[in-house]
Amino acid sequence: MKVVKICCAALCLLALALPFSFSSAAQAVTEAPTGFDNLTNGFTDQTSFDANKDLFEEVEQVADGLGPVYNAQSCRECHQNPVTGAISQITELRAGHFDGVNFIDQAGGSLNNDRAINAAIQERIPGGNEVRTFRTSLNLTGDGFVEATDSNTFVAISNSQPAAQRGSFIQVPVLEAPGQVRVGRFGWKNQQASLLSFSADAYVNEMGITSNLQPTENTSLGNSVAAFDTVPDPEDAGNVDVSAFAAFMRALKAPPRGAISASANSGSALFDAIGCNICHVRNITSAPAGTVINGGAFTVPAALGNKTYHPFGDFLLHNVGTGDGIVQNGGQGTRNQVRTPPLWGMRTRDRLMHDGETVNRNEAILRHAGQATAVINNYAALSTAQKNQLIDFLNSL
Ligand code: HEC
Ligand code: HEC
Repeated sequence: MKVVKICCAALCLLALALPFSFSSAAQAVTEAPTGFDNLTNGFTDQTSFDANKDLFEEVEQVADGLGPVYNAQSCRECHQNPVTGAISQITELRAGHFDGVNFIDQAGGSLNNDRAINAAIQERIPGGNEVRTFRTSLNLTGDGFVEATDSNTFVAISNSQPAAQRGSFIQVPVLEAPGQVRVGRFGWKNQQASLLSFSADAYVNEMGITSNLQPTENTSLGNSVAAFDTVPDPEDAGNVDVSAFAAFMRALKAPPRGAISASANSGSALFDAIGCNICHVRNITSAPAGTVINGGAFTVPAALGNKTYHPFGDFLLHNVGTGDGIVQNGGQGTRNQVRTPPLWGMRTRDRLMHDGETVNRNEAILRHAGQATAVINNYAALSTAQKNQLIDFLNSL
């Protein structure tokens, strides 16, 4: 006991005397671990990682609270390729109406639930909702490092972008810290800032399972489904499952690079030279360990702090001419904005852009317009050989 106290005092003195050398020695910036290998990044031990993964993979039944309206029975159904927690080809459907000034959700919210536990409450998009979009699933591996990134880092990226390409950021509520907001970074519209908030959001909206953070069931196009709901809310009482999902995602390693050929290396240089990297940002560093984030609800641990990761995305909203017309947490100004998708793990993805409707790399690039026009013109001016090098590079991510 006495020895321990002396050590603490000595460390404290050292910290006071040498604040800079002490903190830089303790918190050197290192590379975020990568791998599609079902192994923890160190945020939890491997036993907890495996247990949380089991919950993320669990197929929910009506007795667990599934539905009454829902999209799938398990988080893994939509986040699995090539490992649990990554991406998939699954899309979701959103719809609403534009009145000339504002986007208005279809009755009950823009997200259409594609399944129901009883055919009587199946949602079918009513007439008058002419704004429709599909939204592809997203990769979750590496998202712990994104969550652990200071909001000001994303603001600084925005400030560093040329005016014509500048991305915008929005502040969104952190469900586990009532009244607190944070710069949104998750979802195609940056609708969430915390992985715990997103877990509760996904549990109720994808699977119909309520939690303390999201205690209210969805409706069927605005009509109550209570008559079909046999499990009292919150179905995930005490946020047990949603906390496990968040812990699983925080413990995922970032996507690893694939094989890098000489052609991919040439393509990498072209990617920067023509300006793709203005929005598809290569290097971001998370906040130091000990930083309090998520409105006070989470402290960045050593496993996630001061880690440089390579998302090839800026986590900012842009208008690149593809906007889907839907408004979520960002206000009407975000109607036609979409978050730059991180390109890490790109080689695991065959249906591209927010709606998954572009199935060819060259066509995905040429589909960019709006804020990306000048950069896409640079791409169009490349030789065919150079374009192929750039696409080889994308396929190495
Ligand atoms: C029916 C398919 C489906 C299921 C089931 C599903 N998701 Fe998703 N997930 C998606 C789609 C689609 C998106 C993109 C949504 C958007 O922004 O429009 C997404 C996005 C996310 C994101 C944001 C990732 C990022 O980097 O921006 C997180 C986190 C997430 N899901 C977690 C979960 C968790 C946890 C579960 C289980 C409770 C789950 N999802 C279940 C389809 C699904
Ligand atoms: C002004 C910012 C900006 C610039 C510059 C830009 N992009 Fe994008 N990129 C985006 C946004 C935003 C999207 C998402 C659009 C959508 O889904 O509707 C996107 C989507 C993509 C996708 C599809 C990814 C996926 O997972 O579906 C690829 C591939 C891509 N960009 C490559 C490039 C390349 C290569 C360049 C350079 C020639 C480039 N981008 C320049 C913002 C940008």
